[in-house]
Amino acid sequence: MRSVINITDLSVGEIDELMNTALDIVAHPEKYWDRCKHKKLATLFFEPSTRTRLSFEAAMLELGGTVLGFSQASSSSAVKGESIYDTAKMISCYADIMAMRHYKEGAPFVASRAASIPVINAGDGGHFHPTQTLADLLTIYREMGRLNDLTIGLCGDLKYGRTVHSLIEAMCRYTGIRFVLIAPEELKLPSYVRYNVLDPKGVPYTETTSLEDAMPELDVLYMTRVQQERFDDPADYERLKDSYILNAEKMALAKEKMCVLHPLPRVNEISVAVDDDPRAAYFRQALNGKYMRMALILKLLAEAGDKTPQPLDGELVIDELHCDNPKCISATEQELKHMFRLVNPQKGIYRCIYCENKKVRTK
Ligand code: NCD
Repeated sequence: MRSVINITDLSVGEIDELMNTALDIVAHPEKYWDRCKHKKLATLFFEPSTRTRLSFEAAMLELGGTVLGFSQASSSSAVKGESIYDTAKMISCYADIMAMRHYKEGAPFVASRAASIPVINAGDGGHFHPTQTLADLLTIYREMGRLNDLTIGLCGDLKYGRTVHSLIEAMCRYTGIRFVLIAPEELKLPSYVRYNVLDPKGVPYTETTSLEDAMPELDVLYMTRVQQERFDDPADYERLKDSYILNAEKMALAKEKMCVLHPLPRVNEISVAVDDDPRAAYFRQALNGKYMRMALILKLLAEAGDKTPQPLDGELVIDELHCDNPKCISATEQELKHMFRLVNPQKGIYRCIYCENKKVRTK
């Protein structure tokens, strides 16, 4: 069974194929009106969402399918204590494909192990958000005409910003990519993204706290919201929430040919005055998200006949190490095995398969 939990579940060739389908949908939407007739998409949103949920639903409706689901945990049996595993088994009886957003890292992955229909991760805690990345890639391609040879500035909450983590994973597979990481000390990129993704691929990056200094060299500026809901201490959020505000003066420092992306929602990190700048691509990005989700639904449904579970790669240790990340799904899910994958045999470094939390085991 093919699910998409991480953007790397799709090869670069498959992403090209999805972008071609999306561009064909843009050009000839009528060809696709009946393609999902009698198919049902379940949207299981345990966390708030506007764009992601509605664009998934619009995508399925524009393919001629129907949608069912819930938009908050409180209207599901999760409040009665139902596990993700059981929920995924249930939904497999009622729908042909599901998109799940959850505040626990690894929840959609657990669902994909239980379900007999494809599961799409629509955002899991501060971890990953692969379909936002599909929207981002199509946007960069349409705005800049290429996915190679780009200097990409990532600005704001790089610690909890799941869209940033998935975008880095995706862009590292193209050539000539360089990142500029623009964040306050407290919101720097997590070590698992640095050590698992950037360093092994040898992708160059620089770090700065100044958006002004970075502006002139960027081809893409990816702004993010400081994510109030992920902070344990509200005082930290108050101190950091206005770290960066993109305004017309800062845009004046940027290249003439560049683009500004934001997964949205914006709070106040982009001034409304920037919206009229032709380089502001974030609303076009939201529309591209619908086309890429249409392409992904088509692809996964076409492959859904194969019910064999996706193999778990790498060297795994089961129930020997214990994940201590309170945001990991293994902290709450009933009888879930704690599984770690060996990522660095020399140093004995393992990562939790649900949330990437690091453990070191010395033999
Ligand atoms: C993002 C998300 O939920 O991770 N938004 C989105 O899906 N379009 C970013 C955010 O919430 O700040």
